[in-house]
Formats: sequence, C-alpha cells, structure tokens
Amino acid sequence: MDYDEDSATDEAYQTCVSYIVEHAPVERDDTVVDMGTGTGTVAVELASKCERVLGRDINDEWLRYARKKTAEKGLENVSFDHGSFQEPNVEEAVDVVVTSYALYMAYDEDGEEALRAAIEGISSLNPSHLVIADKMFFGPPESRGDYETLPQMGVVANLLADAGFTLTDVKIVSGSVGVLVATRTSG
Ligand SMILES: C[S@@+](CC[C@H](N)C(=O)[O-])C[C@H]1O[C@@H](n2cnc3c(N)ncnc32)[C@H](O)[C@@H]1O
Repeated sequence: MDYDEDSATDEAYQTCVSYIVEHAPVERDDTVVDMGTGTGTVAVELASKCERVLGRDINDEWLRYARKKTAEKGLENVSFDHGSFQEPNVEEAVDVVVTSYALYMAYDEDGEEALRAAIEGISSLNPSHLVIADKMFFGPPESRGDYETLPQMGVVANLLADAGFTLTDVKIVSGSVGVLVATRTSG
C-alpha cells in the first residue's frame, strides 16, 4: 500500500515508531490497543513485546489490509476491528493505549473539544499508560513547517491531565512531531 511505502521513508514517522517500540511502557503480559491503527504498522511492531495487540480504526479498507499483512507475518496475537477514539469497541481489560499519527485528525476536524472527546474516549478504557506519537506543535511558529491546524503540545498535555494522566516522557522529534507518554495518576 502506498501509505506503507511513504511512511517507510518518512524519517520523523520512523523515529516515532522506533521510540514507541523502545520506550513505550509495555510489559510482556499487557494488552495494548493501537487506536487509529491504519495499516497496522505500530500494532505489528509491538506484537513481540506484549500478550495481545488490538488494532482499531474507522477505515475498513485499511483494517482489511492490516489483517492481511499480519496474517502474512504469521502474527497470532494481533487482531483488528472497527473502532474509534469516541467508541473504541474494546471489551477486554486494557493496559496501554498507543496511537500514532491519528489523534491530530480530531483536532484538525473540530478543534480542542474534538481532541478532548478523543482523549476521553481512549482514557475510558482505563489503561495505565497512553502513548501518543503525533503531529503537534512543540515549538514557536517558525518551527511549524507546512502545518497550520495542529494542537500545541501544552494543549494535549492539559487535556491528558483533565483525563487523569500526567506526562512521564516526551520525545520531541521535530517542531511538529513527537511522542508523549502519559501515566494514569487519577480517575
Ligand atoms: C495517518 S493514519 C496513521 C495510521 C497508523 N496509526 C500509523 O501510524 O501508520 C491515521 C489513521 O487514523 C484513523 N482515524 C481517523 N480518525 C479516527 C477516529 N476518530 N477513530 C479511529 N481512527 C481514526 C484513519 O482512518 C487512519 O487509519
């Protein structure tokens, strides 16, 4: 799929995926949700680090592609189903929710309140950690690149705090891309 080919050569994206794989607080017996899984890249990368990965997305074509890719790799602990930030469609107990390059779309569509609803949706799964690799502004306007409508990292951090999470790790990849690791502290 073109998306996989493009992201394979996207340095910032690859740095995010590597950071997730190396630093996300995922334990061997964890159940991890990859929200907005797309073609399942992050879900596949995390498969060997945990008990199960549940990929969720609103795009059924990409979910089909992710299933095919996972089957070809012989990964039996990764599954994909329809689900959204607002309605995750997850019944299992969840330890960690990871989301990569997907949350910013909520902000792009409907601003801070949509971002709040998306964060509340994944925090309703009661994970101990949220890992957000995404496009957001980490610096001053001159470091923004081509993007116009991205949230400031502080906005995302405040919404995470409102949902009961505290930032415990931040990896700034560029002025407009980075990884946030948030740990549940209340709720
Ligand atoms: C740019 S792709 C990123 C895919 C994947 N996470 C990755 O790292 O390659 C964004 C994905 O977010 C999904 N998405 C957008 N809005 C969503 C929502 N409200 N709930 C769940 N997924 C959503 C899209 O369908 C798409 O698959």
